[in-house]
Amino acid sequence: MDKIRAAISKARADRETLGVPRPRGSKPLPVDAISANWAALPVEQFDANLMRKHRIVSFSRSPESAGIDMMRTRILQQMHDNNWRRLAITSPTAGCGKSTIALNLAVSLSRQPDIRSMLLELDLRRPSLARMLGINPRPVDFTDVLRGKVDFAQNAACYDGNLAVGLNSTKTRNASELLSGAGISDTLSQLDAAYRPDITIFDMPPMLAADDMMAFATQVDCVLIIAATERTSTREIDICEQDLARQTNVMGVVLNECRYMGDEAGYGYYG
Ligand SMILES: Nc1ncnc2c1ncn2[C@@H]1O[C@H](COP(=O)(O)OP(=O)(O)OP(=O)(O)O)[C@@H](O)[C@H]1O
Ligand SMILES: [Mg+2]
Repeated sequence: MDKIRAAISKARADRETLGVPRPRGSKPLPVDAISANWAALPVEQFDANLMRKHRIVSFSRSPESAGIDMMRTRILQQMHDNNWRRLAITSPTAGCGKSTIALNLAVSLSRQPDIRSMLLELDLRRPSLARMLGINPRPVDFTDVLRGKVDFAQNAACYDGNLAVGLNSTKTRNASELLSGAGISDTLSQLDAAYRPDITIFDMPPMLAADDMMAFATQVDCVLIIAATERTSTREIDICEQDLARQTNVMGVVLNECRYMGDEAGYGYYG
């Protein structure tokens, strides 16, 4: 992990010199301005009871949290090796554990002081991150940020100074139109330029229920597919993998063993 941290710190320093990515035509922000942007985000604390309730095992030390940390390390390694920064998390059908795994990864990343991460709610039809984190509805939704109407700082919640979460408390109509719209690329670039996260995780809807993931696929560097053991078929995984591979990089499939919904639950990673 030290090697990865060192590599990420170096990559960050390089990016701070080179100033990529940023919206076309704008100058890179100085390092102090990036830190000021992070410092201006509304601060929240993790609620231990909610973490337990929603199976965010990475919140405290356990054999399960070690599994999440290993997944985090492999993901960071692969993203670093490929110079990838944006990771989408999806699944073939609903309820496979996408949001649980996305939040587990984000909490695990927040434990890395050298790494800045973002977790963004892109299941616009059925948002869940705000509820899982116990955040009161914001005056504005992350959808408003995506539409370029308001600043991220008006919507986000910041944990441990290095994890920023974009939250929705209402459902969005025309989600796939928004996610494939002309402005989305610039909005994401502006977020990258203003906060320069080392990794941005997008919590997506299931692929076979709506076309949101495919509409958004070209905006991300890579995708992780979450499959539910005993519920997701190999055929469903194949369909998703093939469709996604035409638009972006499929990082792997995580088998989420949520069959027992109890102590036996766990995560298996297939790179
Ligand atoms: N490994 C696991 N063990 C036990 N329960 C789990 C596990 N992973 C997820 N769950 C539970 O399964 C349910 C669905 O999880 P989650 O909301 O993360 O899925 P999702 O794929 O994001 O769903 P949706 O498609 O509705 O967005 C939740 O109640 C969650 O706590
Ligand atoms: Mg979800």
